[in-house]
Amino acid sequence: MNLIFLGPPGAGKGTVAQQVTEKLGVVQISTGDLLRAAVRAGSELGVKAKGYMDAGELVPDDLVIALLKERIARPDCERGAIMDGFPRTIPQAEALEKAEVPVDRVINFNLPDDVIIHRLSGRRVHRSSGAIYSINSDGVPQPGPDVNPDDLYQRDDDKPEAIRNRLVVYRKQTEPLIDFYRQRGLLSDIDAAQPLEGMISDTLAATGSQG
Ligand code: AP5
Repeated sequence: MNLIFLGPPGAGKGTVAQQVTEKLGVVQISTGDLLRAAVRAGSELGVKAKGYMDAGELVPDDLVIALLKERIARPDCERGAIMDGFPRTIPQAEALEKAEVPVDRVINFNLPDDVIIHRLSGRRVHRSSGAIYSINSDGVPQPGPDVNPDDLYQRDDDKPEAIRNRLVVYRKQTEPLIDFYRQRGLLSDIDAAQPLEGMISDTLAATGSQG
């Protein structure tokens, strides 16, 4: 089963993906995580991507499409994948179709801008595992006593200026994908303003799995 998680920054795509992959027997492919790993490694891709990411701009389509195609061809994706944050533009979605990657469902996370800003400002990420936490303590996973607070960091693009730009970029370049996938009968809308448990069960229900 291949799923696409679509929605604005901070809507909870990564959090829900981390909670449902095991249940669905699929892997999570976050193009954001792959790009951040490339930046950390200082690879050619990372050097090219860093400026765009820090400013909240999208990384050019050709780079991200190549990255996704390479990742989804690996054996661990045989049973399926959650594409978290890909596609982000119409050309990316068309490239997925051209590559004949089947898409079973597109989960569209809906969330108002004020909640997005609140969530992104409170997000903290665990450096080595990539686990997503929040300092807002509102019903999402919290770091356990085994987690060293020094290992938690705030993403560079979670600063106010970059958040504002990411929202503009989302509306302009990514939102058109809602109609693209609705026209194909693949879209399921999820209320992302509800508590995490509800988001998880709505996502599982949309995929035809038990909540
Ligand atoms: P990426 O890493 O994909 O960022 P994003 O799409 O902006 O999404 P986020 O990771 O910010 O949010 P999320 O929806 O996963 O929310 P999360 O679960 O963390 O991309 C980063 C950058 O990489 C892009 O700007 C671009 O430059 C580049 N890039 C990536 N893919 C690309 C592509 N395909 N093409 C071109 N460029 C690309 O949750 C957020 C917070 O809210 C957390 O603290 C969480 O604990 C909390 N939370 C979650 N759910 C709830 C809830 N129900 N209630 C309360 N709090 C909640």
